[in-house]
Amino acid sequence: MATSLASQLSVGLRRPSPKLDSLNSQSTHSLFHSNLRLPISSSKPSRSVIAMAGSGKFFVGGNWKCNGTKDSISKLVADLNSAKLEPDVDVVVAPPFVYIDQVKNSITDRIEVSAQNSWVSKGGAFTGEISVEQLKDHGVKWVILGHSERRHIIGEKDEFIGKKAAYALTEGLGVIACIGELLEEREAGKTFDVCFQQLKAYADAVPSWDNIVIAYEPVWAIGTGKVASPEQAQEVHAAIRDWLQKNVSAEVAPKTRIIYGGSVNGGNSFELAKKEDIDGFLVGGASLKGPEFATIINSVTSKKVAA
Ligand code: PGA
Repeated sequence: MATSLASQLSVGLRRPSPKLDSLNSQSTHSLFHSNLRLPISSSKPSRSVIAMAGSGKFFVGGNWKCNGTKDSISKLVADLNSAKLEPDVDVVVAPPFVYIDQVKNSITDRIEVSAQNSWVSKGGAFTGEISVEQLKDHGVKWVILGHSERRHIIGEKDEFIGKKAAYALTEGLGVIACIGELLEEREAGKTFDVCFQQLKAYADAVPSWDNIVIAYEPVWAIGTGKVASPEQAQEVHAAIRDWLQKNVSAEVAPKTRIIYGGSVNGGNSFELAKKEDIDGFLVGGASLKGPEFATIINSVTSKKVAA
């Protein structure tokens, strides 16, 4: 093995990393946010937890992207409806627009429906777009915005994404606000710069952070099978929470869910979920398989301690 764990983990990160080969929660605390880790027990969580810097409920979203047919989606919904899901997790699925109605009419109330995109303002003469009002008309509660596929394939820019988030929030949708760096940005040491710039675009636009879940999705990990290591993900999540504390507020930082996305599956979710700043997942490929998605949802048990 040529590269040490420490050098692998710190590749591309701009700030000096803590001693990552002996990484533990203490070193992460002192690096990023020594005054954020107030004892969670003081806020009386509904369950005993370990390893949670945030105070929000675990959140798992399934991003079905441009996949599925009426038949495959009806099977997926049936699998999800019959799955045994841990109660203390917010679960959301994001079907393609044309299947939202089908899903909404057949899926258990336990699972909320999200859109994968929404228009930046009130509907009207915008060919091919879907408005927030139309989504609400179908009982949609969430929208994914700023996904890397929309940033890098469709060409959406930070400011436009910020405006979309602001509009959706103002109209009462929850926003899964995606951020994340490209491989070349990580290798150039720009991971934090990129993430913070994308965060700032949301912060500059949104009226409130009450209904925002941040999804950190390193682009090099999306759909590639190359999942970020738990330590790599934790390092960026902790930095994001620190950024929120410094640039939004000390109140918003712990309560905002910061979820990880990028090749999450039933085999790696339990280790990732153990990390204190990982508050859930945004799942692509593995969310198309009902039983595996249920396993990922249930990785919340990694955060529980035996009574
Ligand atoms: P993946 O996609 O799980 O297939 O990597 C994640 C995402 O794009 O949200």
